[in-house]
Amino acid sequence: MNQIDTLQTEERRYPPPPEFAAQANARADIYGRDFDELWRTEAGRLDWLEPWHTLYEWEAPYAKWYVGGKLNVCFNCVDRHVEAGLGSRVAYHWEGEPGDAETITYADLQRRVVRFANALRELGVRKGTPVAIYMGMVPDLPVAMLACTRLGAPHTVVFGGFSADSLSSRMNDMGCEVLVTQDEAWRRGTTVPLKRTADEAMAVAAGVRACLVVRRTGGEVPMTDGRDRWLDELDVADDPESCPCEPMDAEDLLFLMYTSGTTAKPKGIVHTTAGYLVAVATTHDYIFDLKADRDVYWCAADIGWITGHSYIVYGPLANATTSVIYEGTPDFPDKERWWAIVERYGVSILYAAPTAIRAHMKWGPEHAGKHRLSSLRLLGSVGEPINPEAWVWYHEHIGGGRCPIVDTWWQTETGMIMITPLPGVTTLKPGSGTQPFPGVDAAVYDESGNEVGPGGGGYLVLRRPWPAMTRGIYGDPERFQQTYWSRYPGIYFAGDGARIDEDGDFWLLGRVDDVMNVSGHRISTIEVESALVDHPAVAEAAVCGRNDALTGQAIVAFVTLKGGHEGSVEMLEELRNHVAEVIGPIAKPANVLFTPELPKTRSGKIMRRLLRDVAENRPLGDTTTLADPTVVEEIRERSTAGGPDE
Ligand code: PRX
Repeated sequence: MNQIDTLQTEERRYPPPPEFAAQANARADIYGRDFDELWRTEAGRLDWLEPWHTLYEWEAPYAKWYVGGKLNVCFNCVDRHVEAGLGSRVAYHWEGEPGDAETITYADLQRRVVRFANALRELGVRKGTPVAIYMGMVPDLPVAMLACTRLGAPHTVVFGGFSADSLSSRMNDMGCEVLVTQDEAWRRGTTVPLKRTADEAMAVAAGVRACLVVRRTGGEVPMTDGRDRWLDELDVADDPESCPCEPMDAEDLLFLMYTSGTTAKPKGIVHTTAGYLVAVATTHDYIFDLKADRDVYWCAADIGWITGHSYIVYGPLANATTSVIYEGTPDFPDKERWWAIVERYGVSILYAAPTAIRAHMKWGPEHAGKHRLSSLRLLGSVGEPINPEAWVWYHEHIGGGRCPIVDTWWQTETGMIMITPLPGVTTLKPGSGTQPFPGVDAAVYDESGNEVGPGGGGYLVLRRPWPAMTRGIYGDPERFQQTYWSRYPGIYFAGDGARIDEDGDFWLLGRVDDVMNVSGHRISTIEVESALVDHPAVAEAAVCGRNDALTGQAIVAFVTLKGGHEGSVEMLEELRNHVAEVIGPIAKPANVLFTPELPKTRSGKIMRRLLRDVAENRPLGDTTTLADPTVVEEIRERSTAGGPDE
C-alpha cells in the first residue's frame, strides 16, 4: 500500500487528554479570533523601540508587516530577558557529541553574544554587512547568529554538511563579506574539516575578506594572514554597553536561507525582522504549549535549516525558553543517545523529523525503554509526511500514550508553522496535519484553480499573507513570481499535494514538483543531475525520488556514460562521491543505474515520470510519446540488478 492509500484508510482518533486541555496555552476559541486582532495582539510579545503604525500592507506577492516599527532581534531574544531578571535561567543545555556539555544561562548568552558581536565588529562587520556562517551544532552557532542580529548584519547559515561549492555559491549570491566557521566538527567520532572546506570556498568567493574561526576540536587548521582570525585570540569586551543593539526597521533583512528548487541554482529565501519574530514566537508558544519557566524543549533539527532558525533559535529565545542543543547523531556512540539526553535534562517537549522516528522504530523500543522518559509531555514532527505507523509508535513508545503529537507542516518560505494541531484543542489523526494555524488561509485547489472540497485532493495553496512569509527570492523577483505566484495568480502555491477529509482536516502528500524530500531534506532532481553531468565520464543523467521506508524518499540516478567508459561498480561509487563533493553527502544517490539511453519524447524531453515508475517497480505509464519505447523496457531489465543502498 502506498502512503496515500494508507492515509485514506486511517481511522484512529486521539482526542485531547483532559488534563492537557485544562492547562493548554491554546483554547478552542483561538480559531475564532479576528485575523487583524490576532496579529496585532501577538505583536505585544516583543519589545519595540518604535511602535508600528500599519499591521500589514499586501500587494501580491509582497507583504510588509508591522510597518513603521523598529526593534532589535537580539535584544528581544537575549537582553530583555536578562533585564527582566531571568539572567540565571538556562537558555541552552548543550550536549557535545563526545559527551562534553555546557550549560548556558541567558546572562552567559548575553556575554557571549556581545563578545562575538565585538569580534565581528573588529573584522569590519557593520549594519547591513552580509555574513555567512558555516558551522556544526555548537553553542557559538546561535551566538554568531544573534551577534549578527545585534549589529543589524544579515546572515546566511549554510548547513555544515554542504560542500565547498555549495558554500561558495551561496556566499557569492548574497555577496558575503565575512565568514564565520569552526576548525572542525565532530561526526560519529571523527572530525569534519569545516575550516578547510571554508578555505576552498573562500578561494572562489572573492568578496569574503575576513574569516572568524571558532575552536571546537583543537585540530590543526591553516590560517591565512590578514584574513583569518581565531575568536578566542581577539581581545574584545563582553559587557552589553560595549555593543548596543542596533535599531532595525521592521522590514530590514534578517537572514537568507538557501533552499533547493526546481532548477540547479538554490534560491535565497528572504526573511525580515519584525513579522518573522512575532510569528515564530507566537507559533512556538501555542503549538508547543510552552511554559517557559518549567519546560525543557528540544528541537532535534540542525540549526542550518529553517526548522533550527525558527524553532531552536529565534522562536524559543524570544519566549525565554530553556532548550537542548545536541551536536551529534541519534545512533552515536549508541542508539540510546537521544533517550539518555531526554532523561538527563528532563526534556518535556521533543520536536523531531519522521525519518529519525522511523530509524528509532527500526532499532526497536528497547533503547528508549532503558531511560526514564516520563518528563515528556508533548511531541512534534516536521519536515516530511509522517506515516501513521511511525506516528503511533512515537505516541506509544516515546510519548507513553499520554503526549499529544503536533505534526507541523511548513516550509523555508513560510518561515513559521502553517498547518498543525493545537495541543489540548485538536483531535489528532495519525498522519494528518489537521488544521491551518489560526489566521492561516490554506486550501486545496485543482489544476484549474477550483477549490477542492472535503474528500478531494489537489495542490496546497495559501490565500492570505502571514507575518513570517518570505519577502522574496534574493535578487530574483521573476523566479519568485514564477515559482510560487503564477499557477494561481495572487495565491501562494506551496508545491505540495494535499487532501482534505470529511472533517476538513488536511493530509499532506509530498512534493508535486521536481523536488525530492530525503530524510526531511529538500533536494532538487535537477541539482543532482547537474552534479552528475559535471563528471567527465557522464554524457547524460536523469534523477528521481523513489519511496523509501526509512528516509521517505531515496535518490535514484539514471546515467548514460560517454563512449569509452564502463558502468562498473567503481564508476558507480565514483559518481556517488562526486555528487557528495559537488553538493554534499545528503544528495548522494542511493542507486545509480547505467543505461545506454534515457527515455525521451520526440521533442527530446526526458520523461522522469517513466523513470519513477521504473524506480518504484510500478507498471509503466503511457509510453506512446516516447521517441523509442523500447528504451524504458531495457532500463527496467537492467534495473532489476539494482544498486547499493546506504
Ligand atoms: O513537502 C513539504 C515538506 O517539506 C517541504 C519544506 O521543506 P523545507 O523548506 O526544507 O522545510 C522543512 C521544515 C519546515 C514542504 O514543502 N514538509 C514539511 N513539513 C511537513 C512536510 N510534509 C508533510 N508533513 C509535514 N509536517
